[in-house]
Amino acid sequence: MILKTFKDKVVLITGSSRGIGKTTALTMAKKGASIMLNGRNLKKLLEVEKSIKDIGGKVSFFCCDISDQNQAKELVDYTIKIFGKLDVLINNAGVSMRGNFSELNPEVFRAVFDVNVFGSVNTSIHAIPHIRKSKGSVVFVSSVAGIRGLPNNSAYCSSKMALRAIAESIRIEEVNSNIHVGLIFVGITEIEKEKTTIDKDGALIILRDRAKRNVQTLAQVASSIVNNIKKRKFRTTLTGLGRLNAFLQPILPDLVERILIRSNKKIEEKCL
Ligand SMILES: NC(=O)c1ccc[n+]([C@@H]2O[C@H](COP(=O)([O-])OP(=O)(O)OC[C@H]3O[C@@H](n4cnc5c(N)ncnc54)[C@H](OP(=O)(O)O)[C@@H]3O)[C@@H](O)[C@H]2O)c1
Repeated sequence: MILKTFKDKVVLITGSSRGIGKTTALTMAKKGASIMLNGRNLKKLLEVEKSIKDIGGKVSFFCCDISDQNQAKELVDYTIKIFGKLDVLINNAGVSMRGNFSELNPEVFRAVFDVNVFGSVNTSIHAIPHIRKSKGSVVFVSSVAGIRGLPNNSAYCSSKMALRAIAESIRIEEVNSNIHVGLIFVGITEIEKEKTTIDKDGALIILRDRAKRNVQTLAQVASSIVNNIKKRKFRTTLTGLGRLNAFLQPILPDLVERILIRSNKKIEEKCL
């Protein structure tokens, strides 16, 4: 059954061909929103479009790479062409990486920033004038890895920290336009099969499935994103570990670092 919570609201979700973006798209469609899907994988976009149509939802998609400025602009323009307005932009598309900083091919940093930072920037700059008109929301999907730097994740952590600075700047700039700016620090979440990450040399590798305990479900994360938008909250930090990190980092950064050094050693020992 389609609810009325987001009736007449147009929601653009980058990176909604799979994972958190796809689940958020389905959740918002069930609540009455018209959804613009995005990703680069046409086959997967068609599958998500069908799932939303099957439940009676309103949906369209635009297959493009948001790290390209022109394509990101076309995505926003296409949303306006199809639905006539834009109420909510969820900057969800993202890529992760792994590898010790000193061993990284610098192109890994570029690849991560191209999607996580420039993809969000490219889309948001074109979307904000439309969101001002609807007094809607622009939401950034960051990570608990964006609260403080973590080992083997320097490019990912710094890209997700950049989203925080961007969101904080926009909030002040837009204080008189009454738009909502949301920032979600997502914790470790279940992943779809064949989710990839960028290895230290730049190669894409498939992640191993995650044990079900200690991870949030895609549905839990989607529901927190929807709640952030509904309540027009600024920060939403997910998982107990994420909230503990957000609390301790500003007041006891040395303690957090000691804990991380110890747990990093344990992880290294287990991997050997
Ligand atoms: N899963 C976690 O544990 C976790 C934790 C913290 C934060 N997050 C954040 O949550 C977001 C979603 O994560 P996820 O686990 O759902 O990832 P995922 O399953 O790998 O999905 C990523 C999505 O981004 C899209 N994408 C990647 N590059 C793109 C580009 N250049 N242009 C357009 N779309 C692009 C992918 O679509 P195509 O392949 O079709 O292009 C896909 O739909 C990311 O920002 C991630 O950093 C995830």
